[in-house]
Amino acid sequence: MNPKQLRDLYFRFFQSKGHALILSASLIPTNDASVLFNTAGMQPLVPYLLGEKHPSGKRLVNIQKCLRTGDFDNIGDNTHHTFFQMLGNWSLGDYFKKEAIAWSFEFLTSKEWLNIPLAKLAFTVYEGDAKVPRDTEAAELWKKLGVPTERIASLGKDNFWSAGETGPCGPSSEMFYWTGDSAAPKKFDPGDNRWVEIWNDVFMTYNKDKDGAIAPLAQKNVDTGMGFERALAVLSGKKSAYETELFSRSIKKIEEVSGVAYAEKTREMRIVADHLRSAVFVLGDDNAVVPSNVDRGYVLRRLIRRAIRYGKLIGITTPFTSTVAEMIIADYGNYYTELKKNRELILSELEKEEEKFNKTLETGLKEFHKMAALSDLISGKDAFLLFQSYGFPLEMTQELAMEQGISVDEAEFKQEFEKHQELSRTASAGMFKGGLSEHSPQTTRLHTATHLLNEALRRVISKDIHQRGSNITAERLRFDFNFDRKLTSEEVKRVEMEVNRVISLALPVRREEMSIQEAKLLGAQMEFGVKYPDRVSVYFVGDYSKEFCGGPHVSNTAEIGSFTITKEEACAAGVRRIKATVEKKK
Ligand code: SER
Repeated sequence: MNPKQLRDLYFRFFQSKGHALILSASLIPTNDASVLFNTAGMQPLVPYLLGEKHPSGKRLVNIQKCLRTGDFDNIGDNTHHTFFQMLGNWSLGDYFKKEAIAWSFEFLTSKEWLNIPLAKLAFTVYEGDAKVPRDTEAAELWKKLGVPTERIASLGKDNFWSAGETGPCGPSSEMFYWTGDSAAPKKFDPGDNRWVEIWNDVFMTYNKDKDGAIAPLAQKNVDTGMGFERALAVLSGKKSAYETELFSRSIKKIEEVSGVAYAEKTREMRIVADHLRSAVFVLGDDNAVVPSNVDRGYVLRRLIRRAIRYGKLIGITTPFTSTVAEMIIADYGNYYTELKKNRELILSELEKEEEKFNKTLETGLKEFHKMAALSDLISGKDAFLLFQSYGFPLEMTQELAMEQGISVDEAEFKQEFEKHQELSRTASAGMFKGGLSEHSPQTTRLHTATHLLNEALRRVISKDIHQRGSNITAERLRFDFNFDRKLTSEEVKRVEMEVNRVISLALPVRREEMSIQEAKLLGAQMEFGVKYPDRVSVYFVGDYSKEFCGGPHVSNTAEIGSFTITKEEACAAGVRRIKATVEKKK
């Protein structure tokens, strides 16, 4: 199966069911200031899910360009990409569950279409909660089509889909494909990662307001999303989309310009191919932005510069980004004609950015290594110098530091950045919004949860534990702390329970300003190695935790919802890392 075949089959199938084919909306939203890039197929269609009339009718089919830059750490593994495409069929207040499920089933299993043996498929449905009932209807529909009961699992939050904090949402039913070497087990275990999710049917019937309350929508919609990269990989019998035609020619180009084999530098080459593909689509978009230090331009700059740095790690010594980009345009430009139309701009912007960065990268790296040799904390001033004089995005300095097992004083970097006169206030506000931190209600909840985790670790594990670093995205918190061994799974559970216990106490959160001496006397927690100003802001969570912090935080722990630790791992010598999520109670 190649990309064109899969795309055409999907379109033809849904056209035969009365759907109008629409073009992908721009990667860069024009009517939604809350996101930098489209992160799901439904985003550009939100007004129509809410009831506005779509000019092409009530049944639509498309492939939507998406970009997610929340978690760069995963890029390079088998299944993650920054840019990706989503196939989707849409009912805007027209057909509902019965048809959606029957058509998903037909497209996957029928001989004329994907012809996947039912023995290789499994399904999930929503198990329900206090407000939304269990989706027995969806389960019954799958069963009637011939799916054995043991291949249908009921799940919680994974089967309730919403794009963000507010807006259209609803229970979903996901389809999984067996990728194991042996025959698929009779009983479906959603925790076994050989079952790969390929398609998601969302029954969008609710709208979530900013307090998290949900109310029925005026119309019942269907939003389905088939991750194109992932589906193509499994349907071609490959472990990863990087090994399909979506990437094969650009990776070959990278092998050519470096003289190194993909098998030798797999992760690095995937990162270069992924980031340049994203950069080509951002620069080639009809609402294109160019590299800059603010908002979307900053995300683009980070992608290009990270690709260049990884190119160097592979061993590439000559400019290469536009050569690889030519291949990407050749691979994608027939369908995404905007790439051909904007070819000159794409290539010239990449060349300019690469030339600019190449001038400073070497000396910047030397500077960085000097700094790293002197201390295990790169000060905010030094990180700012690397940014200002050598064009190192903060995240790049943080990544370099991480590779050395040291950290960067991010708070001080931000202070330096704000102090700096050359950038206007709005520009800097924009950069923090886009590149450095985002203060949505979800990140605010994660932020307060981080303070509770910090304290819980000390109370449950060891009073000598202190924060060594922290990073929050819309999806998760990440917390680094000093400790010299892996936590046992029982310890992880106890810490998680302790945080949830404190959340359920509904403790008030308050902020006080005081002198640094006073704060130290109170025993407020501070991050190791960070230099704080004379007057500091301290956040108190009841009388459970006190910590130096700029905020923002929730006003009561009850707002956090339930807390789950998703990962505990080594981060550097003597430093452990926890990743965790919070989910607001429904
Ligand atoms: N909105 C759902 C998703 O992104 C289905 O398209 O998974």
